[in-house]
Amino acid sequence: MNKVSRAEVLDFFTKLTEFNSISTSEAYNKDLENCVLFIKTFFEREFKNSLELCRLVRLKNYKPLLIVKIKSRSAKAKTIGIYGHYDVQPEDPVTEWNTDPFRLVNQNKKFYGRGTADNKGHITLNIFSVLDLVRSGKNKNNYIFILEGEEESGNEEGLEQMLRSQKKVLSDVSAFFLTDVGMFDRNKPQIYYALRGIVCFELEIQVGKRDLHSGVYGNLALNPANIISDYIAKLKDPYTNKVGIKGFYNDVKKFSKTEIEQLKVACRTKDQLLKETGLFTIVDINKDNLYLSSKILPSLDINGLWSGFTGSGFKTVIPAKAGVKFSCRLVEFQKADKVEGLIQNFTENYFKEKDGIKYQLSLLAKAEPFYTDVNNEVIIKTAKVLKQVFGNKVIYNRSGGSIPAAEIFQRLFKKPIVLTGFTLPDDNIHSPNENFDEEMFWKGLEALTEIYQNL
Ligand code: BES
Ligand code: ZN
Repeated sequence: MNKVSRAEVLDFFTKLTEFNSISTSEAYNKDLENCVLFIKTFFEREFKNSLELCRLVRLKNYKPLLIVKIKSRSAKAKTIGIYGHYDVQPEDPVTEWNTDPFRLVNQNKKFYGRGTADNKGHITLNIFSVLDLVRSGKNKNNYIFILEGEEESGNEEGLEQMLRSQKKVLSDVSAFFLTDVGMFDRNKPQIYYALRGIVCFELEIQVGKRDLHSGVYGNLALNPANIISDYIAKLKDPYTNKVGIKGFYNDVKKFSKTEIEQLKVACRTKDQLLKETGLFTIVDINKDNLYLSSKILPSLDINGLWSGFTGSGFKTVIPAKAGVKFSCRLVEFQKADKVEGLIQNFTENYFKEKDGIKYQLSLLAKAEPFYTDVNNEVIIKTAKVLKQVFGNKVIYNRSGGSIPAAEIFQRLFKKPIVLTGFTLPDDNIHSPNENFDEEMFWKGLEALTEIYQNL
């Protein structure tokens, strides 16, 4: 890095972190808008002469997509797609944070703040690596930034539609970089070749018009909290994590011995996992390959649950309503539509012969599993630079997380997809005290600059 200063980078990162760009609730739409306008203005100001295009793509009910094209003067320029998401997860529970979630705070050699790791830090690194190349006159490629505001909400139908509307610009892209994942360790860079898919649901049930006195009506009323507990208990075994829905595992790919052996290279031990997660125990759904069970198997989790009175003190009430949010992660060859259908059938069957319960099942998010071949020039070149910068060979890995955009880019544009990033396993994404390690951050900047320059 020579043409951009660390102060400049941090100034941008600081400002970017201050936007409450939470996409999971409508309440923050203005913050998301301000956030994307801030990024857009930055591009317009700093990239002036090399900016070929800088536009917000808008679609009703979706957050704007920022598309920016930076042009090189070289006649042989390739066009590199760079994806990021400027939206973040809610900061709750806010009392668990040691710092203000929407301030960038440098403490213990880490940058703390909601979105620092996922994905504002990486957005910052991408912008400044390209800016460095442009300013130094070394820039031999064109870059198209594709920055979305809906990743964390899973509203990916909007992304697909907006990308389709930009096909003309995006069809020039020869490879897409998605830096929205992390490293295995400080000196162990990774490239992911697979992500799990996801389907997210909300179920709300109602047994009457209003809450009732539990003394006066206990034994007479159905209690929706008990009903939803029973429903949940049938979704999966809470101790083994085996999903109870018929057919759920039908399409799951059998992984080859060779692949499993390769994946084991990047496995953590039980003790490491306990330390990393803060859990009191680890479930051995997949006894041979503890750490692999979040990568090579689908899973189902309750993500939120409510009913009755949960304030402080006590209220003797029979609630009228109960609700649950849950999601299934999918592995290769499972289809999101099919799993959606299984959950719908399961729910219909569950309530079929039960009187006096109204229920509504809504689908809140959906993304297909992603898989890509890593035998292409772009990934090989990227891996070479990562090795140089971090000192070790790249680990090719599967991730249990989901990035809907990866599969969408692959399906729409059929070009190599490179999934990498520079955060550490203790980055606390989606949790309190999310952070980006300071050393990793600067090394990430160096790595990206080098990667983009060498493509
Ligand atoms: N960056 C994550 C995905 C991720 C996390 C990949 C860890 C690999 C390792 C991304 O921002 C994310 O959280 N995605 C959501 C998508 C969902 C809401 C549709 C996820 O995986 O929960
Ligand atoms: Zn995330």
